[in-house]
Amino acid sequence: MSRQFQTISFFFSLLIMAFPMWGFSQEPFGNPKEGKILYEKHCANCHGTNGTGDGPDTQFLMVQPANFHSLKSRSKTDWDLMTIITFGAAYSPMHGWADRLTEEERWDVLRYIRILAPFNPMARYRPSPNG
Ligand code: HEC
Repeated sequence: MSRQFQTISFFFSLLIMAFPMWGFSQEPFGNPKEGKILYEKHCANCHGTNGTGDGPDTQFLMVQPANFHSLKSRSKTDWDLMTIITFGAAYSPMHGWADRLTEEERWDVLRYIRILAPFNPMARYRPSPNG
């Protein structure tokens, strides 16, 4: 095998390996369109249609649902929120959804929440009136 051929095929294989990774990093998990349907069916009664935590069922709850627009929620990572959606929050009416929604559906619903209230990594470093 010629040296030149070796070099070219080495770079070519790097290119092939890089492509799927590039695509993967651009595309976050979850489909917000599916997520909207799931959110309105399962979550809006507590978290409110706009994610402000004021759905009609809140009158029956001791622990109030999270307001996704609060800086506290917006500064949590996808993984923080996904863990709560999957396993629930201890001592609260927010139970885990792992037995009711598939992993794909949980990503869909999270992606929709992130459209209602986008991730803001700097939020936790700023004092805020609404938590
Ligand atoms: C019975 C009412 C209720 C329903 C239904 C409900 N939640 Fe919750 N959720 C809560 C409460 C209450 C909390 C706050 C828990 C706490 O602060 O300890 C919460 C917290 C959360 C959090 C954490 C937010 C944060 O900033 O820490 C996420 C994410 C979440 N819910 C997503 C969902 C999703 C997605 C659904 C629908 C699949 C859903 N919830 C359905 C009551 C509910």
